[in-house]
Amino acid sequence: MRLIESIREMTAWSKEQVREGRTVGFVPTMGYLHEGHLTLMRRAREACDRVVVSIFVNPLQFGAGEDYEEYPRDLTRDSRLAESAGVDVLFAPAVREMYPKGYHTFVDVERLTEGLCGASRPGHFRGVTTVVCKLFNIVRPDVAYFGQKDAQQLAIIRRMTEDLNLPVSVVGVPIVREADGLAMSSRNVYLSPEERQAALVLSKALARARDLVESGERDAARLRQTITETITAEPLAAIDYVSIVDNRFIQPVDTLAGDCLIALAVRIGKTRLIDNMVVEV
Ligand code: PAJ
Repeated sequence: MRLIESIREMTAWSKEQVREGRTVGFVPTMGYLHEGHLTLMRRAREACDRVVVSIFVNPLQFGAGEDYEEYPRDLTRDSRLAESAGVDVLFAPAVREMYPKGYHTFVDVERLTEGLCGASRPGHFRGVTTVVCKLFNIVRPDVAYFGQKDAQQLAIIRRMTEDLNLPVSVVGVPIVREADGLAMSSRNVYLSPEERQAALVLSKALARARDLVESGERDAARLRQTITETITAEPLAAIDYVSIVDNRFIQPVDTLAGDCLIALAVRIGKTRLIDNMVVEV
């Protein structure tokens, strides 16, 4: 596996792959890799001739007072894990090269970014779409892999790719969970043992909602009520949002129909966790 830190070198490598007729699969990450990230890499490995993973903690997508400084970083550990997943290139650019002095261009997807995490984290998705657009231009992948864990992010990236005619196929990969149901996340390392236990309330609340949907419930308000009650019963948990939206434009629905997304963000102590499930009715 090769470590590339310069943008120029990354693009030169990608152009070489195109010349050789090889397909490139790409997994953008912020590092501190876990089994969720590695699953995306294995999907890319199965489908593409070459696999690139980027590790870049993108300052643009963190708000003031968020965890940009504390975000866990360990390039040595990440290199070992990426190599074990069959990755060809680890791309880890420096912040000053991605956003040099005088940088003033941003990509903003409207409407889909208004609710859910977009409402609680103003500017977050503008940071995500800007960096992903830049990374697509630098890495020039044929296929890019994103986790369903960040369902709103996935919908927004699909929208941006389609709206801007970016020549990349976007593939969504199901949420990878710990054995007890907690969705894997780099931020889970922030949790104390007691909080780690309390964090199970997210997947538990979603499982309850799934049972209700399976027994015929279609009313969004009643489903949200059940989820809210389940989470509120956990003393360490504080709800940021519980939303039921259509999975394409991320707009609230009153009644489940078609592809809907039940999404939640919950603070466990100081750590903000998200989880979701897609229901097709
Ligand atoms: P990061 O949180 O590192 O996640 C990188 C990718 O891994 C995302 O597509 C995310 O959805 C996926 N992922 C994380 N946890 C997962 C899980 N438990 N199961 C399945 N997939 C999972 O998302 C970002 O970084 C950034 O916003 C990024 C897209 C890299 C732009 O900076």
